[in-house]
Amino acid sequence: MAKSKIRIAMIGCGGNMRGAHVPRLHEDGKVELVAVVDTEESQARLLMEKYGREVPWYTDHKTLLRKEKLDAIFISSPHASHYAQVRAALEHDLHVLVEKPLTITSGKAKALIELAHQRKRFLQVSYQRNYYAPHVYARELIAKGVLGEIRGVVAYVTQNWSGVRGWRLVPELSGGGMFFDTGSHLVASTLWITGLQSERVSAFVDNEGKQVDIKAVVNVCFKNGALGTLNTFGSASRHDERLAIHGSEGCLVFHLHQWQIKSVLLNDQPIEIPPRIVEDNPDAALFRWIRNGGKGYERPWYALEVARLSEAAYKSAKLGKPVKVAR
Ligand SMILES: NC(=O)c1ccc[n+]([C@@H]2O[C@H](COP(=O)([O-])OP(=O)(O)OC[C@H]3O[C@@H](n4cnc5c(N)ncnc54)[C@H](O)[C@@H]3O)[C@@H](O)[C@H]2O)c1
Repeated sequence: MAKSKIRIAMIGCGGNMRGAHVPRLHEDGKVELVAVVDTEESQARLLMEKYGREVPWYTDHKTLLRKEKLDAIFISSPHASHYAQVRAALEHDLHVLVEKPLTITSGKAKALIELAHQRKRFLQVSYQRNYYAPHVYARELIAKGVLGEIRGVVAYVTQNWSGVRGWRLVPELSGGGMFFDTGSHLVASTLWITGLQSERVSAFVDNEGKQVDIKAVVNVCFKNGALGTLNTFGSASRHDERLAIHGSEGCLVFHLHQWQIKSVLLNDQPIEIPPRIVEDNPDAALFRWIRNGGKGYERPWYALEVARLSEAAYKSAKLGKPVKVAR
């Protein structure tokens, strides 16, 4: 596409859309916000304030799609809304950036990835860790075999969910608790960096009196024989996140604290990132693909893998025994 301005609309004007995605529109400078959708006017107004200009506000995506001429849609609504909103946007031949997790079931995640492919549209699932320079470089190193054969992964993310209210605690809207939400980043980066695919899962979850999981310990057998454990603790004091990847020839350990990368160690030494790998983000990548006709686009298979693993984890916790990951 050789147009100078990309016309987008935003669905879901909450904290994440305002805090993460609006600034990235400004950073780009050649993207126009044409309209917004939110069920709450106050949220739409706060977003317009952040954007710096009033735009039309709709309460549902169908009206938006009927009325506005767009190139792409950004979606940052409660998880259970993602499917219908992404599908409608793709059916209108729009490119889509949707927040994690892609949908609340793996069947729907697969259907959306296939639909995007059929309609020749870019579907971006906003897992920002896939754009951090150390994560990108780590993936390259593993693909080149620098770590040898991957034998095991150990990962956790902690957060303080004591103040969490609203849709996140309602299973029908969120699809799950801390493991499904923040944990989705941990699962996605583990699978994306290593290329591992889950085969069997055994999980324990603790809802701590809520309707959704606050703590989860998820043990995974991967297809290549590697074993892993992916854990989420939502009643901790703050965000802390580690991912250790162990191979036959070496190991990589990531540490993030309060959402910042603190260290990435390759065989216990700070990793040196080549200057050709620059910091990026999901929004900038989508704008680039729209402008360059899709050079570098990767179908979001990892979002489907996250959905499959998460589904198996909840099933295992419910049944109290290991389960096979459905494919
Ligand atoms: N990538 C990240 O690091 C990151 C961080 C935070 C949140 N998120 C994701 O962003 C999404 C939104 O999370 P949030 O923290 O901004 O939540 P939020 O509650 O702050 O915002 C959600 C917004 O959606 C609106 N909404 C509810 N139902 C709607 C519907 N049917 N159509 C349109 N709008 C609707 C709400 O009124 C609210 O303004 C979720 O998918 C979440 O997992 C991602």
